[in-house]
Amino acid sequence: MARVVTVGALASGRGTNLQAIIDAAAAGRIAARVAVVISDRRDAGALERARRAGIPALHVARRDFLGRDQFEARIVSELVARGVELVALAGYMRVVGPALIGAFRGRIMNIHPALLPAFPGLEAQRQAWEHGVKVAGCTVHFVDSGMDTGPIIIQAAVPVREDDSAEDLAARILEQEHRIYPEAIGLYAAGRLRVEGRRVRVLGG
Ligand code: GRF
Repeated sequence: MARVVTVGALASGRGTNLQAIIDAAAAGRIAARVAVVISDRRDAGALERARRAGIPALHVARRDFLGRDQFEARIVSELVARGVELVALAGYMRVVGPALIGAFRGRIMNIHPALLPAFPGLEAQRQAWEHGVKVAGCTVHFVDSGMDTGPIIIQAAVPVREDDSAEDLAARILEQEHRIYPEAIGLYAAGRLRVEGRRVRVLGG
């Protein structure tokens, strides 16, 4: 059995990507264990999903800290205390700052609902739909100091159909998110990701 990577997830919302990761880990499809889920929102569905899975669920409120560095320092100390090696942003609605990036350099992943570098930022599915693209998709990437700019690990494409609403498209993309995020974590756990500049090489399995 491959070494099991200890994952800490940061999430602000409903947590369906987190659920996909928890399920893949629980089923033994990836050599990962989610050790803690941290949210900046007390009411995040992601915290409820964590509790249901028996995973420690923490609310860390930004307003309890003077600046982003102090806020992130608390998050870092919670992650480190649980032996987290890989941080998975799963619908975490804040830009990650230097305190978190510095502590987990090259060990933070994010899922973005567009084929980066197109449509970074908020509501990417709607941006793509309004732009009129014919192919949309999602991206798992390592996080750097930019907004959705880090090295790309896996992408999945979906067609945009003639009668799609932005919501239809988002739902089709979400299905693929749930597939590729656990897959990317599995590749990391298996030691199969090598970052070379901007490029991530996936080593043969
Ligand atoms: C997903 O669309 C993800 O790509 C984006 O935020 C959304 C989170 O959804 N980063 P969920 O909380 O995982 O359901």
